Amino acid sequence: MKPEDVLADLERRADLGGGADRLERQHAAGKLTARERMELLFDPGTFEELDKLVTHRCLDFGMADQVIPGDGVVSGHGLVNGRHVFAFAQDFTVFGGSLSETNAAKIVKIMDLALKLGAPVVGLNDSGGARIQEGVMSLGGYADIFLRNTLSSGVIPQISAIMGPCAGGAVYSPAITDFILMVKDTSYMFVTGPDVIKTVTHEEVTKEALGGALTHNETSGVAHFAVKDDRDCLQTIRDLLSFLPSNNLDDPPRVTPTDSPDREDAALDRLVPDSPNQPYDSLDLIHAVVDDGYFLEVHQYFARNIVVGFARLDGRPVGIVANQPSVLAGTLDINASVKGARFVRFCDAFNIPLVTFEDVPGFLPGTVQEYGGIIKHGAKLLYAFAEATVPKVTVITRKAYGGAYTVMASKHIRTDFNYAWPTAELAVMGPEAAVNVLYRRELDEAADAIAARAEKVAEFRDKFANPFIAAARGFLDEVIRPRETRRKLITALRNLETKRDRNPQKKHGNIPL
Ligand code: HXC
Repeated sequence: MKPEDVLADLERRADLGGGADRLERQHAAGKLTARERMELLFDPGTFEELDKLVTHRCLDFGMADQVIPGDGVVSGHGLVNGRHVFAFAQDFTVFGGSLSETNAAKIVKIMDLALKLGAPVVGLNDSGGARIQEGVMSLGGYADIFLRNTLSSGVIPQISAIMGPCAGGAVYSPAITDFILMVKDTSYMFVTGPDVIKTVTHEEVTKEALGGALTHNETSGVAHFAVKDDRDCLQTIRDLLSFLPSNNLDDPPRVTPTDSPDREDAALDRLVPDSPNQPYDSLDLIHAVVDDGYFLEVHQYFARNIVVGFARLDGRPVGIVANQPSVLAGTLDINASVKGARFVRFCDAFNIPLVTFEDVPGFLPGTVQEYGGIIKHGAKLLYAFAEATVPKVTVITRKAYGGAYTVMASKHIRTDFNYAWPTAELAVMGPEAAVNVLYRRELDEAADAIAARAEKVAEFRDKFANPFIAAARGFLDEVIRPRETRRKLITALRNLETKRDRNPQKKHGNIPL
């Protein structure tokens, strides 16, 4: 055969993956094939495949007769929204997408290139895990990938999509990356599957309940996005990448804004209810303020008492962190602290300014929280905001009580511009709780305890339930009208474009894990 005919034959076999039957089974399971996924991830016609002709080297267990060019993973690079991105897609039709020595080497090759060139890596996972026939060579391949995930962390964005099985130690590569997306109904992740669990603990659980998309989005918080199908998954990755710089030395990509920086929203003046105990939805605030109302929420289903995600202000990407008064009154608990901390650290690593909307009555009280370590987990959020050197702007809309006041990007931990609405309340605790601590004995002895209590509460509310003492101290730079929030934030971020700040030199800090 002529070399060009050999090439054509090899390419045809690579494109066929595990064969027509298995490709059909992949579609019947509601999944796209590895190559179809790559075509949708990248801008049309820009995907360039590498190592298409790589084959495995395993001669045992009849493997010498089953050699498929590409060896179960499609890898390469191309453009996403016009910017260079590397990606790999495991091909479940070839030995269940399992990881062989050579298939790991293909992934390692694009990870090394991406790190060298400063471009994001996207991994599309759909695999039965370590290739059983290859034993420790496969395990070594995983370790090679984990090392690169770790070294690339904070240098280039890494995104993992789970689009089929992802089990055993294989889960630890996605776990080290920055974002995990899971496709509803067709993906699952777990360290040990239902059979092992039944043997060891006698618990009976389905794959879906153990490690399906909703389990990891709502309960464990392992995953950041739950998407409805493969197409939705790949489109969400493209959206996410549109907010991120290519690497830690670049600025996030700015788009030409279509929304006026001076746009005011009078509805914001009425957003905070008159009663301090009545909730409102912080998503209404975010949508009203950001460009075109577009907000890509991260971790939407997990720890909903805090909201995090990406938006743009005058075309510049920002990371938004907002307490959510409509869930658990916006208190900070363990999960909210961990969720917020991880997001803040991602933004700081990748030069994405942080905008914080604060309405927090404090940390959630209770034995569950204390025994669970709210002290160390709450400290993560404090640590993350304090160490962040990106532009930081905070708007206090209502409550800023106690430790939570200091944690939520207060002036004291290097926030650049701190604003408050006239409805802000800055205090050690709410008026009712303060009166209980300070006047318990006096109130117990009062002839009319209810009236005496109401009087003390009113006195406290008058003194502390406002932003003016903090503004008089300079802890707040300005008390602003809610309707001007967008303009104020845009002006602040424009001014902060030249911000320079750095932490003391060290190997790395010791965030309370
Ligand atoms: C080799 C594998 C494989 C594997 C699946 N296949 N997993 N081949 N190594 N790990 C092959 C099957 O033999 C089958 O080949 C094809 O892929 C499709 O698999 P099915 O079982 O038919 O598919 P399905 O019913 O959808 O089940 C998928 C599955 C199951 C749940 C993933 O295949 C499975 O349980 N696989 C083993 C999972 C596992 O325990 N892996 C090791 C985890 S530990 P044919 O020829 O029939 O199409 C691990 C350690 C990592 O990964 C360590 C890192 C430190």
